[in-house]
This record gives sequence, structure tokens and C-alpha cells, in this order.
Amino acid sequence: MSVAAPRAAAGRTPAKPPAGYDVERVRKDFPILAQRVHGKPLVYLDNAATTQKPLSVIASEVALYEHSYANIHRGVHHLSIEASEAYEKAREKARDFIRAGSEREIVFVRGTTEGINLVAQTYGRANVGAGDEVLISALEHHSNIVPWQMLCEEKGARLVVAPINERGEIRMDELEKRLSERTRLVAVAHVSNALGTLNPVKEIVALAHARGAPVLVDGAQAAPRLRVDMRDLDCDFYTFSGHKMYGPSGVGILYGKEALLEAMPPWQGGGDMIRSVTFEKTTYNILPYKFEAGTPNIAGGIGLGAAIDYIGALGIDAIEAHENDLLAYATERLTAIPGLRVIGTAARKAAVLSFTLEGVHPHDVGTVLDREGIAVRTGHHCAQPVMDFFRVPATSRASFGLYNTRAEVDVLFAGLEKVVEMFRP
Ligand SMILES: Cc1ncc(COP(=O)(O)O)c(C=O)c1O
Repeated sequence: MSVAAPRAAAGRTPAKPPAGYDVERVRKDFPILAQRVHGKPLVYLDNAATTQKPLSVIASEVALYEHSYANIHRGVHHLSIEASEAYEKAREKARDFIRAGSEREIVFVRGTTEGINLVAQTYGRANVGAGDEVLISALEHHSNIVPWQMLCEEKGARLVVAPINERGEIRMDELEKRLSERTRLVAVAHVSNALGTLNPVKEIVALAHARGAPVLVDGAQAAPRLRVDMRDLDCDFYTFSGHKMYGPSGVGILYGKEALLEAMPPWQGGGDMIRSVTFEKTTYNILPYKFEAGTPNIAGGIGLGAAIDYIGALGIDAIEAHENDLLAYATERLTAIPGLRVIGTAARKAAVLSFTLEGVHPHDVGTVLDREGIAVRTGHHCAQPVMDFFRVPATSRASFGLYNTRAEVDVLFAGLEKVVEMFRP
């Protein structure tokens, strides 16, 4: 891959990439990365939207369909038992991945969005009433706004929003002020997809618990890049998506504390979530199956287990260090471009770099970069209130994954210089 020579960047020199992390070897695990786009080597920097899949994840689904596929939890025949065991093994891996206490606390869902909707429609409906409040922050993804808005509208409750500061950090004093005896639930992102802000969720959980309010954490952007530990965070619900952590799409995890899940009514009705059904009365299955109506994404669940294995083999701490190095390097290089404004400058950030280029619409940035083989996201990133706060219609966003390199940051830099040349007089 040809890369522009790094320019002398102003300010401090970013840390060197972590020793022992062989990103070139890692890249070989991802066949899609070898592609050329518009004749240029693909530089995939849209990892906050979704991540590419390693061979082991792809192979896990192929192996299931070639050798072990059948519906799960229902059959006494060989294939059904084999597929059920593989699926339940994936649940066990997910439990271990987030250090939850029990598989009963691990519910397979379609993804983060479904996890949040499940909690809103079950816990929320049962516990939020007229005049009550649900507290979120101003940097949430639409998936962690709209389900609560719908619930509040239905119940005559109030959606309360903790503001952010100009760096894109939650104003903790304001959040604390907004916790009241009417707060029935707090819902916050672990990491903001639009800004990269790493929120102090442990502190938020402690504040909310002191007022008796449970906390749901949207872990969509944290699970792929940070060590996530339910026993340490002590949150009540945590949810994340397989496709953002090198696993398949259409599958994710909702963690809930067992006592809460036990007390919650089921959400969807159907097969697998029942113990017995008569026309007069249905009794429900034990956890976690009570929340898993219908045939699930069997291959997806098993693929998610393979993704967890993959992350585990590289080591989540090494991944985090690698991505932090890329973020520091990219921030330093890109801020040297005249007219480039980084949106989201929190003191604690994950590997998401949102920016605007003076005088150039983000869609033009994205289109020109695409011609260079570079995939970045442009738009509001499903976080329109964040865009409103920063008074921008949209941003361009480069988000890094475990397979990205400093050389790719250099390609991005060169691509942006081209954008500037094209659009600036
Ligand atoms: C912070 C955050 N929350 C929720 C979601 C929704 O995830 P999904 O579309 O996988 O349900 C996303 C996806 O971009 C996200 O980044």
C-alpha cells in the first residue's frame, strides 16, 4: 500500500504502537481487507457502524450449516443436540466475556437496539408510570432515545436529559441534579458512537443506585474495544451488538441482573419462551429463555461466540491499546489540516474521530475519500441531538478497529489533503 510520508505534526508525539501486537498478521484474518476499491487498497474506517469478520467467524457459520445445523432446544436428534450445545456454548462465552455471574443473565437479542427496546417494553412498562422520569444523556444514539420516548409517551412519564459540555462529556453535576425520586431508570452509552466519549458509567451507576434507580448501559461501542465487567460496573442492564465486534449481524446480547429479569414480564410471546400453554393460561420458561421467543439467529449466536474467542485470543487490553494509539496518531495528524475541527474532544475517548472540514460538506468528504478507497461514515450517526448541540448538520467520522494501521491513517490524511485541494479556492 502506498502511503504519504507523515508530516511533522504539531504538539506531542503519540505513543508508539503497543509492542507485540502484530497488526499485519491480524489483517490476514480478514479476507475483505485485501480488496481494492476504485483501484485503491481498501482502507476501512467505518468500524463504529459495523466491523469486518475474521475467517474464524465466517468458518463457524459455514461449519454449522455444513455439519450441525438443526433447530435448537427442541429436538432429541443428533443435529439438534449438537446445534443446541454450540449455541449454549456461545452464551457461556458471552457471559464470560462480560464477567456476568450466570448464563441466566445472558439473553440473545438481535442487537443493541432490540436489547434496549426489550428493557423499555418489559421493565419500563412495568415500572414507569405517569409523572415518573427516565434519565438519559445528550450524547445518546437514537436507539437509546426513541425507545424511552415511546415508553414515556405511552405512560405519561418524562424523558429527562443530562447535558454535555463542549468537549462532548456528560456534565456529571447536571446529571446528578437530574436524578430525582421520580427517576425510574437511567440509560447511558458506555462509549458515544458520534463523539467517541468514554462515559464514567461506573460513577453514573453509583449515583443512580444511591437514588434507587437502575441503570441500563448501551455497550454497542464499548464491547468491541474495552474490558467490560458486569461485577465491576454493577449496572443493571448492559447490551451490545455482535456485528460491531467482528461477529455476525442480527445477533447481540442483553445482560440483566437475574433478580430484575426474573421479576420482569416477558416481551414477545411464542415458542421457546413458554413452559406450558393452554388456551386458559400460559406459564413462562426459566431465564433466559423467557425472553427468547421463536427460533433465534442460531448461526449468528454461534458466530458471536467465535468473535468472542477471536477477541479473547488477541486480548482486549491489547486491542484497546492498539486502537488508542491509532486514535492519538490520527488526532495529531488530522488536526494539522487547516480548517479541520474535531467534534468530540473528551479527556477519555475511544477510537472514534468525528470531524468537520471548513467549507466542505461531510458528504463531499466521504465521496472523495471513497474514490481513494477509504471508507468513512458521513452524516448524523443516528445522533441528531449531538449534531444540534455542536451546531453542525453532520460530521465525517473515522472509527478504528483492531485491524487498522498507522499507514491507513496516513492514507486518510493524504485523502483529506486531496479534499482540501479540490474544494478550497
Ligand atoms: C452507541 C450505539 N448504540 C446503539 C446502536 C445500535 O446498534 P444496532 O444497530 O446494532 O442495534 C449503535 C449503532 O451504531 C451505537 O453505536
